[in-house]
Amino acid sequence: MGSRKMRIGILSAGGDCPGINAAIRGVGKTAIVEYDMDVVGIVNGFSGLVEKETIDLNEQLLSGILTLGGTILGTSRLKPFKAVDGEDPQHKPDLIKKNYEELGLEALVCIGGNGTQKTASLLAREGLNIIGVPKTIDNDIWGTEVTFGFDTAVHIATEAIDRLHTTANSHKRVMVIEVMGHHAGWIALYSGIAGGGDVILVPEIPYNLDHVYECLMERSRKKKPYSIVVVGEGIEKPSKKSAGAYIAKQIRKNTGLETRETILGYIQRGGSPTATDRILATRFGAYAARLIHEKQFGTMVAMRNGVISSVPLDEVGGKVRLIEADNKLVEKGRYMGVCFGDCRK
Ligand code: F6P
Repeated sequence: MGSRKMRIGILSAGGDCPGINAAIRGVGKTAIVEYDMDVVGIVNGFSGLVEKETIDLNEQLLSGILTLGGTILGTSRLKPFKAVDGEDPQHKPDLIKKNYEELGLEALVCIGGNGTQKTASLLAREGLNIIGVPKTIDNDIWGTEVTFGFDTAVHIATEAIDRLHTTANSHKRVMVIEVMGHHAGWIALYSGIAGGGDVILVPEIPYNLDHVYECLMERSRKKKPYSIVVVGEGIEKPSKKSAGAYIAKQIRKNTGLETRETILGYIQRGGSPTATDRILATRFGAYAARLIHEKQFGTMVAMRNGVISSVPLDEVGGKVRLIEADNKLVEKGRYMGVCFGDCRK
């Protein structure tokens, strides 16, 4: 009689993004084929652990999902350690531990962003065998150089910017496009450079609108037919308006240039992942299964110096990876005359 197979759980939590299913497939197929494990899918993030809602992930369910956007498990933004309506703060964590035991789980893979990895580190401290897999289009998770979802979002945003060039040129307009990035400006920076943005505003670089006006007026004086302004949604702004709408309104009002805005929104989170994200998500997922096999619990899969390894979850939780002050891509943009809203070119 062979020993009982190791039984592992997988969940996806937080904002969805292209590549999650590729990661689920990477964990699941490696666990089943290479390590002869049983795999349980937890439905809708951590709420599935509270509610004990699961699906058995067999090879059949895992096939055909590599290219599929979203997550076959569903997701939620439930923060089980955040007590609501005066409930006992240990109520949900204790329920999760109880269900983890009753489901016969010996490890749990948490695919998610900053909030998810924070919850994962707290569950690890409660004694569960946890492996984190970083996921977000924002690319802002501490400890890893890159997350899957980011390449696809940059691809979508860049394609949108490419399209804005032709309509801006036809009407001789300033086109403002707001892209996602709750805390960090990685999508704005990368799609702004890839899409030939003339002005790129990111949360990490405080901007002065006078410099933006001057840059746009200078382009107008040089008879440049149009300008493209790429705005990260997380920039400082005094109004409740969206960042893109606020910046467009200020440009219109203070330069007299005809200006329109596009809020790209959830398009950046939809559809099939790029090949790059499929590969990255697959590699992250497969490595998570290996960490379980090697019992390296309490860690998160990470890309460091171009090599996939792992970092302690405790180092990751609650932190955000922002664009560095000496970022080389920002420097190259400045050399080419891109305005980042501050006085240095
Ligand atoms: O974290 C990814 C992200 O898309 C952010 O870029 C964005 O600000 C946020 O999620 C939107 O959150 P929700 O999906 O809850 O509206």
